[in-house]
Amino acid sequence: MAKPKVFISRIIPDQGLNLITGFCDADVWREELPPDPTALCERARGKDGVLCLLTDRIDGRIMDEIGPQLKVISNHAVGFDNIAVADATSRGIPVGNTPGILTDATADMAFALLLAAGRRVVEGDRTVRSGGWKTWGPSFLLGADFVGSTLGIIGYGRIGRAVARRAMGFSLRVLYFDPSPHAPEPGVVATPVDMNTLLRESDFVSMHTPLNDQTRHLVNADFLARMKPNAVLINTSRGPVVELQALYAALRSRRIFAAGLDVTDPEPLPLDSPLLELDNLVVCPHIASASRSTRGKMAQMAAENLIAGLKGERLPNCVNPEVYSS
Ligand code: DGY
Repeated sequence: MAKPKVFISRIIPDQGLNLITGFCDADVWREELPPDPTALCERARGKDGVLCLLTDRIDGRIMDEIGPQLKVISNHAVGFDNIAVADATSRGIPVGNTPGILTDATADMAFALLLAAGRRVVEGDRTVRSGGWKTWGPSFLLGADFVGSTLGIIGYGRIGRAVARRAMGFSLRVLYFDPSPHAPEPGVVATPVDMNTLLRESDFVSMHTPLNDQTRHLVNADFLARMKPNAVLINTSRGPVVELQALYAALRSRRIFAAGLDVTDPEPLPLDSPLLELDNLVVCPHIASASRSTRGKMAQMAAENLIAGLKGERLPNCVNPEVYSS
């Protein structure tokens, strides 16, 4: 029997690639940059499955271009805002993602940014390298205090709760805002509050929401104006959750103390972005899940979703389970 045909939109770790090539005839996009929509359609046309990354936009038009034989779309990410899920559901196509396994790596990165931005680690490094370190000084590069400060977590899902667990080790008081109710997390003292209270009381604010119509530009001029002047903003969720022009204005005018971003809009951030001139911003290239074992497990989970879909089985991690009842 002929093997199913799949398109994989980038080289993924062997843990996933080997599973896929053992079962399918795989066409892998081997360029450094992602395929543009035309190239993606050309290469994926006629394939039974597609494994894509968060850099690939897949909507109904692209699904139709690929063809009616398309049985499954597997995203190599937990976030799936790059896929028009409703379009997939209406075509009977299950969409897979990779929840759970990148929770700790992402929470670690949120904390890395919190410490780096709060304690001016990157600015300190730049100061040393540029010869700006003349002597030890009592008021030189003063930063945030952690013990006894308040961390506000926006979005108390898996990653938000993992950040709260880490905050206990730093003796931070934790507040969170989430429209959905959450059971208490063992070993964590965290208080649910409304958004105003969270912004008014938090010294650190960390974003852990999915990207959707409610969260796009949630961090705007009004949001930043409600933060404390000493506050540090962290975003490891999705770039468009933060309106970068408003953040630039707030950082430049010292309306807030600092920010740490792992995600931006656009990605990559252009080199001429005025944000990159700011000392009170730490920015990373969307690497929160980039630990060796995490990326291997993500590839494996994405491969398992893909293969299940090709076999006509329920995806182990499906973002549109309603597809099975329609
Ligand atoms: C995800 O999986 O959604 C992250 O942003 C990338 O690892």
